[in-house]
Amino acid sequence: MKFEKEILCIGAGYVGGPTMAMIAYKCPQYRVNVVDILPEKIDQWNSENLPIYEPGLYGIVQEARGRNLFFSKDIGAGIKAADIIFVSVNTPTKTYGAGAGMAADLQYWEKTARQILECAESSKIIVEKSTLPVKTAQAMERILNSGKDGVQFEVLSNPEFLAEGTAIADLENPDRVLIGLQQTGSGLKARDELVEIYANWVAADRIVTSNIWSSELSKLVANAFLAQRISSINAISSLCEKTEADVGEVARAVGMDTRIGPKFLNASVGFGGSCFKKDILNLVYLCSHYGLEQEGDYWEGVVRINEHQKERFVLNMLTAMFNTLAGKKICLFGFAFKANTGDTRETPALTVAGRLVAENAQVVISDPKALDNARKDTNELNGDIKFIEDPYEAASGCHAIAIMTEWEVYRTLDYQEIFNSMQQPAFIFDGRNIVDHEKLYEIGFNVFPIGKPKLVHF
Ligand SMILES: NC(=O)c1ccc[n+]([C@@H]2O[C@H](COP(=O)([O-])OP(=O)(O)OC[C@H]3O[C@@H](n4cnc5c(N)ncnc54)[C@H](O)[C@@H]3O)[C@@H](O)[C@H]2O)c1
Repeated sequence: MKFEKEILCIGAGYVGGPTMAMIAYKCPQYRVNVVDILPEKIDQWNSENLPIYEPGLYGIVQEARGRNLFFSKDIGAGIKAADIIFVSVNTPTKTYGAGAGMAADLQYWEKTARQILECAESSKIIVEKSTLPVKTAQAMERILNSGKDGVQFEVLSNPEFLAEGTAIADLENPDRVLIGLQQTGSGLKARDELVEIYANWVAADRIVTSNIWSSELSKLVANAFLAQRISSINAISSLCEKTEADVGEVARAVGMDTRIGPKFLNASVGFGGSCFKKDILNLVYLCSHYGLEQEGDYWEGVVRINEHQKERFVLNMLTAMFNTLAGKKICLFGFAFKANTGDTRETPALTVAGRLVAENAQVVISDPKALDNARKDTNELNGDIKFIEDPYEAASGCHAIAIMTEWEVYRTLDYQEIFNSMQQPAFIFDGRNIVDHEKLYEIGFNVFPIGKPKLVHF
């Protein structure tokens, strides 16, 4: 069968995999090929055990895989065959040289650009799916258009706004699809090609276009605003704990103002995930690059509050448990950075586990989907750490439970049974404010929510 378009995606991660699965699922007329430098990841995408957990993902992969969705190890052949190439490789924070700890590390991006240049035999549209510093498209075009005569590359920016845990719903029904382009004849033509793909299932008024620099910057700003809301409410949570105000009540009252809105106002142990911190630091670096120190400081504060919130959580545990955690057994309910994903990148649970180990506590980690990642992440902590998926078994014999991830299962456990199996006095530190604090207190727990009065029996 001849397909209408040959689409390639370089980078088969949390963004590349689900995004391409959705395009293939919605558009059987296109051939969608996904490649990665990690051959084992491609094997996993071709198996029943996908490399990432995302509700609804397996169903659409099963539907499209082998029909018009392919996962392949041959990057060069993929580049040759493609009309449109999405690049969704990782762009972590730089750990070396100028901008270390702040700027985006663009080495994976640049390698990809050079490989495209080396392998391409015809003109192509290159779509930035990765989150990149503003003005990256310009650098990419310079690399790409430095080589072959007669082969032209048009770079578009199309940042991805999906959230892990709800990626399939977000992709199926996005708030918006943003396409940034250069206002040239070839830029407009490339835009039309990309719009045509999304128009297969996204309403026309949700597909917005902008200049390419606005598009690149919008993604960093969207993440900075989302993280800022979390840090804002978390900064209020400590004040609530001091004043006996209830952060849930404050958030409800504030969020009912339609100018503010209710979303992302849940106080917690802090945000995690691979994007918020790195994208804010990237924004801070850009500000400082342009001499905007005050503006950079403002945004860096969002990250500082987040670090502080995690530390505050551990110090609250220490104070509550009679100023020593040494030898005490503490169970972490959840290790993923949020519910409905197995992703543990930048998870607050790792910081908390590390601090508990430093206090010589024994740590038991429980999570429905993230235990493999948790094992790898905690390897270097060299602590007394056990991994037990069943929450009842994990909590048995523990002095305390700390809820790290808002998995639905933790709301509905039989806490009486858990209480009976624990050391007394039993403590629960609810880092996500998801359990019924009054009820747990009545069972006999000493309960420490975030930003609400503690409920203790002594
Ligand atoms: N994870 C999210 O929720 C999310 C959401 C929106 C945007 N983003 C952005 O999307 C980009 C990708 O994020 P991710 O979470 O999917 O990362 P990821 O690490 O899960 O996936 C990136 C993949 O790219 C592969 N790769 C790296 N260099 C390569 C190369 N030269 N050739 C082929 N493959 C290569 C890696 O092996 C990896 O599998 C980042 O820029 C991120 O900021 C992520």
